Amino acid sequence: MTSDFLLPDNTSDSPQYTEHAGSFVHSHGTKVFIKSRLDGVLDAVAQARFNEKRWVWIPDPEMGYARAHVLNELSKQDTEVELESGQVKIVQTKDVFAMNPPQFDMAEDMAELTQLNEPCVVHNLTVRFRANQIYSGLFLVAVNPYRQLPIYSDECMQSYKGRRRGELSPHIYAVADQAYHDMLHDKENQSILITGESGAGKTENTKVAIQYLTTMASKRILNKNGTVLVNQLEQQILQANPILESFGNAQTIRNNNSSRFGKFIRIEFNMQAHICGANIEWYLLEKSRVHSQSSKERNYHIFYQLLNADKAMKEELLLNDDHASQYGFLKDSQPTIEDVDDAKEYENLINAMHIMGLKKDEIRDFLRMVAAVLHLGNIALTADYSGERADVRDFSALERTCHLLGIPAQEFKKSLLTPRIKAGRDWVNQAKSPAQVMASVDALAKTIYERNFGGLVDRINRAIDCQKTTSKMGFIGVLDIAGFEIFEVNSFEQLCINYTNEKLQQFFNHNMFVLEQEEYKKERIEWSFIDFGLDLQPTIDLIEKTNPVGILSCLEEECVAPRGTDKRFLEKLNSTWVSDDPEGKYKSIRFKESFTVKHYAGQVEYSTAGWINKNKDPLNEDITRLLARSTNRHVATLFEDYLTETEHQIPNESGLPTSSSTFSLMKLRKGGGSFRTVGQRHKQQLLSLMNTLYLTHPHFVRCILPNGRKHAGEIQALLVLDQLRCNGVLEGIRICRKGFPNRLVFADFRKRYEILCPRQASTNCFVDGRSACQTLLDSLALDSEKYRIGNTKVFFKATVLAELEEIRDRKLSEYITRFQAGCRRYIARYHLTRVSRQAEAIKIMQRNARIYVTLREWSWWKIYAKLKPLNVAYRVESQIKEKDQRIADLENSIAVHQQSYEDLQDQHSALVANYKTYKELLANEQRLTAELEETKIGLSEKLRDSKGKIDQMLAEIKQIKDQVDERQQKIDELETKASSESELLAETQKVAEDHSLERDILAAEYEALEEKHRLLESQLEAVETKSQNALMEVNQSFDSQIQERDTKIKQLKSDLEARQRNESLLQQTIETNKNQYQELISQKEVKKIYIYLERFLD
Ligand SMILES: Nc1ncnc2c1ncn2[C@@H]1O[C@H](COP(=O)(O)OP(=O)(O)OP(=O)(O)O)[C@@H](O)[C@H]1O
Ligand SMILES: [Mg+2]
Repeated sequence: MTSDFLLPDNTSDSPQYTEHAGSFVHSHGTKVFIKSRLDGVLDAVAQARFNEKRWVWIPDPEMGYARAHVLNELSKQDTEVELESGQVKIVQTKDVFAMNPPQFDMAEDMAELTQLNEPCVVHNLTVRFRANQIYSGLFLVAVNPYRQLPIYSDECMQSYKGRRRGELSPHIYAVADQAYHDMLHDKENQSILITGESGAGKTENTKVAIQYLTTMASKRILNKNGTVLVNQLEQQILQANPILESFGNAQTIRNNNSSRFGKFIRIEFNMQAHICGANIEWYLLEKSRVHSQSSKERNYHIFYQLLNADKAMKEELLLNDDHASQYGFLKDSQPTIEDVDDAKEYENLINAMHIMGLKKDEIRDFLRMVAAVLHLGNIALTADYSGERADVRDFSALERTCHLLGIPAQEFKKSLLTPRIKAGRDWVNQAKSPAQVMASVDALAKTIYERNFGGLVDRINRAIDCQKTTSKMGFIGVLDIAGFEIFEVNSFEQLCINYTNEKLQQFFNHNMFVLEQEEYKKERIEWSFIDFGLDLQPTIDLIEKTNPVGILSCLEEECVAPRGTDKRFLEKLNSTWVSDDPEGKYKSIRFKESFTVKHYAGQVEYSTAGWINKNKDPLNEDITRLLARSTNRHVATLFEDYLTETEHQIPNESGLPTSSSTFSLMKLRKGGGSFRTVGQRHKQQLLSLMNTLYLTHPHFVRCILPNGRKHAGEIQALLVLDQLRCNGVLEGIRICRKGFPNRLVFADFRKRYEILCPRQASTNCFVDGRSACQTLLDSLALDSEKYRIGNTKVFFKATVLAELEEIRDRKLSEYITRFQAGCRRYIARYHLTRVSRQAEAIKIMQRNARIYVTLREWSWWKIYAKLKPLNVAYRVESQIKEKDQRIADLENSIAVHQQSYEDLQDQHSALVANYKTYKELLANEQRLTAELEETKIGLSEKLRDSKGKIDQMLAEIKQIKDQVDERQQKIDELETKASSESELLAETQKVAEDHSLERDILAAEYEALEEKHRLLESQLEAVETKSQNALMEVNQSFDSQIQERDTKIKQLKSDLEARQRNESLLQQTIETNKNQYQELISQKEVKKIYIYLERFLD
């Protein structure tokens, strides 16, 4: 690909190809398709050469893909091709990829490419990179240039401000601006997700994006001189980066300033769209770097910067030696980085910390922990005589560590060498071997460093947070996190990173095509919605699911189990996940302590050695408890979660109560007081991040490392290809290809392709765009699966437009050939006519010449020649006469005009006089009108007064009328009352009569009832007497029965007493019998003894 005859030879620094031409195809709207760059001779030549042969890409082991042209299609499976070197090869047809015509080179948006395959994408990125166009579209792909390009300046920033997408070349500024614009417009939170390999430029792009936002969205405060003052908050947000880089970045083989942690920076905006605060969340700090690094790498920058600190600080932190080689945790690493001055960096760090508002004490506290880690690395361990127990002979490093950490040295030593462990119910001290103590020192160093880092981020967050602002519009979050990693040996850390990336890729897939599918819906084309995010779910389930138990949960279980081992963990995984399904995401590997997971970016083999330990991240709890009780408040706060319940209430030795920390890591450990592992913590953090991201509108940036040598201008196609696969660019393209990535509005499509069917196009009557496009496509006999017609656009599958372009090219060349033939014919004819006319003219001239020669000496001719000038003089005289005549005519007309002018003048003066009289008249009239106006006003006032009076009178009349109405109504009411009362009287009389009749009837009834009542009473009396008698009888029988029972009870009682008496008598006799019996037995025993004695004596 390097010997690229289609590549423009463009290596200058200034950005080129920024002009836009044509209009067409964009993945998210209408935009460029055919560039007008073909005007250059180079392009025309390239196009001509491209058209000569069928150019394709074929796989190449060195360059990824190589350029070739097809010689012969041998069969469906095989194709014969010729490489540029002249080598002829037979390759599998499936490995032959179509090439884009040269006019597509340098396409800004990769969705513009009609051939959207892997080699075309790599090729496009390569040509753009060589022309210093490091940013490309689709979603933003950024290739690290490894040199300063003039594309990050204030003017450049301003030029991207408020521009629509696609108006200018792709840039990280454009992404940041889009996010800002979307937040303002949609009132929705935004996120910019920047991923890529180590050294690909994530952090640089993050910084640029944040700088853009802080510049564009800051409140501009002018001082008295009218210059812009830099806002403190924005300064602090920008200065957070150097601080984080000092503590969280290190030199690695791939990157001199490699971030060894992931971060999500949220920039909050108020309702005025100004920045009102920020917050930083961090992930997966690489702790192991604190105690071990490879020889070409370094520990975290801060260690080396601290060794270049000012003398006073070093003395305070007991750092007597400036040389990294004097410290255990640094001695194996590179001491310096090329072109980096650690002393200067230290100054910058302190400066940044001051801007952040950190007080001197606070700065010292953070640095104190770093120094403590350095001294911790210098603790020299020796073995005792048995070689099994560790001992410390040189106390200086240990004492320095303890002094800085504010803990008693003797207790620390004891806890380190013989920590307490639980044996049954008791605690016992167990002596440790040097290797065990070394591991414990390393673990402690890691934890101290990590917690200090966490504390620092919390402190920064406190400085830049926006709790004061009540009304927030939203936030823009920028995520800078390590990309997919596939090493030779992949361990637990890689699983965590790859799991994160799998989740982020799922988010990307979900979002990437959502917009596209919305466009389909809007255009109402036939399409069933696909959630591409679901493709990755099986792998995510394999890692995070709890039922069936996924990798992380299984590891968790083994960590909690008393006899959990790496082997058991792997066996458990194998038994749960191994299946015969070829699509299965998990595979075990025979005879190896590892398994493979099929990620979207490829298959990764993970070695499970040491996973339990890595996940548990065990610590010497004796020491952590010591640290929690440190006299130094900073140290105690960082470890306060190790205090036991009782210790919690006790103030530490310095007398200060331990403050409740906001330290997120601690919160995690404290959550429910349960045991937390690294995997669990990461899973939880990731879920929370994903929840945040799903509530934002995302913008994706994919960073690409061009070469592994940190060289400017060099691009290694294989490396790029690998990254495109890992960071999901190819995945995005795969998704694009499933849809209809190319589209054209009807008018454009007609204009460009009606040449293919001139007969349809030539009809003069109006045809609407949709039907015209349909007719065109029908006549092209295109497979209906390859295109869709929407409401305003025609959509095409990838590569279809390239086919159409090819047909168009053929057609055009046919027309042009015909046109050229016509032109040539015309030119030839023109020449022919000219030549034949010339021949004729020559003949005429020759004839005239001959005539002249014969006439020259003829006398008549001579006379004619002499008379000819006289003829001219005659003509002049007649002309003068003519002119005189004209002058006379003109003078007459002038006189006539003069006369009419004078008449008009008279008319004018008469009109002026008229005008004056009319003017006076008008003035009189106006005066009169004014007078009339006054009288009108007076009259209208009078009218108003009388109107008021009339209104008053009317009101009075109305009032009287109302009163009359009221009275009339009362009279009416009284009349109706009187009539109703007379009716009532008649009715009452009638009712009275009825009543008297009724009364008589009732009286008769009453008497009858009285009679009945009396009868009933007499019956009742009889019944009562009867019942009383019966009751008495019952009572009597009852009493007699009770008496009977009482006597019976008495009798039974006396019987019982008699029996009891008998029983006691019997008991007494039994007792006497017993006594007698025992007496007898004892007598019998005595007798037996006598008999024994007698026998014995005998
Ligand atoms: N846009 C750019 N312009 C100039 N140089 C750049 C650009 N992007 C990256 N670089 C160079 O590449 C180096 C590595 O970039 P950066 O630190 O951003 O990588 P990274 O992706 O964050 O890597 P890591 O994952 O290791 O942190 C930078 O120090 C810088 O020298
Ligand atoms: Mg970085």
